[in-house]
Parts: sequence; C-alpha cells; structure tokens
Amino acid sequence: MSSPQAGTMPVFCVAHMLESWDERHPQAAFVELSGQDAPARPDGTPVVARREEMIEFLRHPAVRATDGVHYNMGAQRPLIPLDLDGETHRKYRRLLDPLFTPKQVARLESKIRARTNALIDAFADAGEAELMFGLCATLPTHIFIDLLGLPLEDLPIFLEFKESVVRPQGATVEEQQANSRAAGQRMYDYLADVLAQRRAEEAGDDLIGGFLTAEVEGARLTDTEIVDICYLLVIAGLDTVTCSLSCMLAWFAEHPEERRRVVSQPELLARAVEELMRFESPVPLAHRWVTEDIEVAGRRFAAGTMVEVLWAAANVDPAAFPDPLAVDLDRARNPHVGFAAGPHRCLGSNLARLELRVALEEFHRRIPEYEITPGQEVVYTNYGVRAAVHLPITFPVS
Ligand code: HEM
Repeated sequence: MSSPQAGTMPVFCVAHMLESWDERHPQAAFVELSGQDAPARPDGTPVVARREEMIEFLRHPAVRATDGVHYNMGAQRPLIPLDLDGETHRKYRRLLDPLFTPKQVARLESKIRARTNALIDAFADAGEAELMFGLCATLPTHIFIDLLGLPLEDLPIFLEFKESVVRPQGATVEEQQANSRAAGQRMYDYLADVLAQRRAEEAGDDLIGGFLTAEVEGARLTDTEIVDICYLLVIAGLDTVTCSLSCMLAWFAEHPEERRRVVSQPELLARAVEELMRFESPVPLAHRWVTEDIEVAGRRFAAGTMVEVLWAAANVDPAAFPDPLAVDLDRARNPHVGFAAGPHRCLGSNLARLELRVALEEFHRRIPEYEITPGQEVVYTNYGVRAAVHLPITFPVS
C-alpha cells in the first residue's frame, strides 16, 4: 500500500525495469528478482525479494514503518496504525484487532451476499458486463460504507479519494504528491464533519460508533485519532479488495477448467483465493526504514536506509513455493505474504478473504459461464495496486 511519495522514482518497482517485465503477467519478472543476490533500485535503494530474508528483516527491531517524514498515501500525519512502530503501534492493534476477527467479520456475510447480488442484478440480463466498473470497484466500497455507518450516497467521495491517493495524477513525483495530499485534505475535512455530526447523535452499532466509545489505556480516542484510523481504513479496505477481486475474476475468465471446478465445488474457493492472492499479489510492495546498521540473512543494511520490500517477489520465490508460476488451486502449504508479514500484517485480511470468497461464490452461482469479450483484452495496471482495470466479459443469458 505504498504510494509514490514513499519512493523517489516514478517507476513503481525495480522488477518493472527487467526485460522479463510484462504488464499483464509480471510474475516471471518477480521470480527473476527473487533469484538475485541483494537486488537494488538504480539509486541504490535495497530491495528485499526473498521470502525468508523478508520475514527475518521485518522482525528486526531496527526496521521501522516510517522515517517520521514520509507518510503513506497523501496523509499529513502518521496513519494509525500503519505509520507507527513499537509499543505505540501495538497499543492501537490491541484496540483494532478484536474488531476484525473471523467471528466479527462473519456478521457481515449476509450483507456482502446481498450487496453482491444487487450489483449483479444490474447486468445479469445483459449478457455482457464491464466487471471493474459493475462489481469490483463498487462492492468493497458499499461494504465499507456499511461497516463505518456512513450514507451510501457518499460512495463517489470514497471512490474519488482512494483513486486520487493510490494512483495520483501528475507528470512528476512532486505533482503526484501534491495531488495526493490535496485528496487527503478533502478526506480529513469529510471525516472531521462526519465525526462532529456523529458526536451529536447516540453512538451507533458500527465502527465509528465503536471508536467514539472505545478506550485505549483508559482514555477515549480523540477526534484526530479516529480520523487517522478511518482515513487508513478507507484506503486499505477499498482499493485492495477491488483490485484483488478484479484480478481473480480475470484469471477465472481466462481459465475455464479451473473455474468449472470451483463452480461445481464452491468449498474449494477459500483455498483458491489464497493461491490467487499469492500469484497475483495485488499489493506488490511496501517501504521500510532501517534505524541502525544491521545484518539480516547475511546482508547488510545501513542506518538511515529506505528499503523496498517486495511482497510480490516473495510470493513467487521458488525457495518458498515449488513451481511458483503454476497456479495450483490445491496448493496445500501456502505461506504467502499477500497480506504482508511482520508487525504490520494486514488488519483486514479476514474481512478481505470473506468479501472475496462470498463475491466469487455469488458471481459464479449467478454467472457460471463467462469469457473475456471476444476481440477485447483484459487491461492490467501494476501501478500502486495491481488490478484488471478493464475487464469486459460476455456470458450466456438463459
Ligand atoms: C485483498 C485485500 C487486501 C490486501 C491485499 C491487503 C494487503 C495489505 C498489506 C500488504 C499490508 C501491509 C502494508 C505495509 O506494510 O505497507 C496491509 C496492511 C493493512 N491493511 Fe490490508 N489488505 C487488504 C484488505 C484490507 C481490508 C479490507 C482492510 C480493512 C479493514 C485492511 C486494513 C489494513 C490495515 C489497517 C493495515 C495496516 C496494519 C498495520 O500497520 O498494523 N486491509 N494490508
């Protein structure tokens, strides 16, 4: 979930510079990178691409989420908990983790099913659909608006915000940073207004209601803390699920045999979601800062260095995943890092898994046979988060 502001180059990651890079299928370039000893960007930024080295690196106490200057995704203050470290970080995770356990998120299952079906209703009789637009972009936003307890008519505000901070417009890094910060400011203002309004009402049975009454170490959360949590949740919870769902639907559209297997045996979907999370790695990378000279897995990192951590490469590291370029829906051992690893591992992975599984189950129940519209191609972007941004499908209508 890093934005270009965390780095200094417009090229989104070092694998992009390899000859084997292919925007549609970047996995081979990531395998190549995971085979390199001590890969680095042209400006010298070290890249961690091997799974084992990555796990050890992320556990090191001298490895930090920020340098105290660069914050993720248009934020002007540290995002809670992503831009915090050590005990402060743990303090907020203790508050947030119980809200996103499998049991807690399971309460949303029927809502996710209903929202998925309502979106499919809009195109089910047409025999064709643009799935990024018709399903992937809207579903997670609907779910999130429900979760936070906000009005559905505010949907365009969220879609515009996450697009502007995850893929900011601009010809230079400076322009992109300025656009991303401007979008961030609009979200700060929006959330501050929401909180002022919600404080005047009785606390509702939703996340914002919960934050208004929650206590951390005996003290209520301040408005700034709640805004900084919600700001991150909006970005972390929307685009990631949108992009992952688009990659998975694109993959199933192009692999009819495997699709027919999960259509006839939906119980295979949970494992299929894990394997596609590994293979597609929608969130490709993050940045970390090293606070003192350290050695990890025989490699030295100097104090003050920014390091690029490539989840997408670790997920196809042949030392961790035999035959890494094969999508094996039966892969039994799958310790992928698609939801990150270390202290900042994804807070919302249980929710994401539920949304993806339920959306795929419902989609396949309603539309079991589909293909990429003849004469058209899936268009992928790998900038920010990997997604199938153009996903036109055709299907028979009974
Ligand atoms: C398929 C969907 C998702 C993927 C691939 C994903 C991936 C990730 C990754 C790679 C990180 C680590 C980021 C870093 O270290 O820079 C992360 C962190 C995080 N994710 Fe997710 N995520 C997904 C869905 C969600 C959802 C639905 C939520 C909302 C509840 C969420 C909330 C968070 C939060 C709050 C963090 C920061 C955790 C911390 O710093 O302790 N994510 N996610």
